[in-house]
Amino acid sequence: MKVLVVHGPNLNLLGTREPEQYGTLTLDEINAMIGALAGELGLDARCVQSNSESEIVGLIQSGQDGQDGGSYDFLIINPAAYTHTSVAVRDAISAVGKPAVEVHLSNIHKREGFRRHSYSAGACLGQISGFGATSYLLALHAAKLHLEK
Ligand code: DQA
Repeated sequence: MKVLVVHGPNLNLLGTREPEQYGTLTLDEINAMIGALAGELGLDARCVQSNSESEIVGLIQSGQDGQDGGSYDFLIINPAAYTHTSVAVRDAISAVGKPAVEVHLSNIHKREGFRRHSYSAGACLGQISGFGATSYLLALHAAKLHLEK
């Protein structure tokens, strides 16, 4: 089963970006953790980062008619700042209709008021927020359990 993991804007800077919020692991290190757990769970994870809303919409659409990229069975997405701004990302998740989990490293409900609202979470099975890199690993377990149902 294929899991697409999409990391949104500024997550390429993990490791040095606001470590008190996001920890000190780099995105490559987090992707290695995702790959290792996916292997243990028998899942095939593809991790992609983009700073562009348009590219993220394209990634979510991958495998649909006329879109590049392989298809996938489950979406794990950290839309980062687009969580709080993007109807386009939400609509893409709804349009494709694949099961999805929204992930955040930090607990967005403990931070500034504008971070408490997510456009995308309503198009997902659920949201995992506040566990650092472990949020992605919990999402992989959620994917495995959902795909086995
Ligand atoms: C984030 C939380 C967002 O509010 C923020 O814009 C990010 C990262 C997180 O993973 O905690 O870029 O999605």
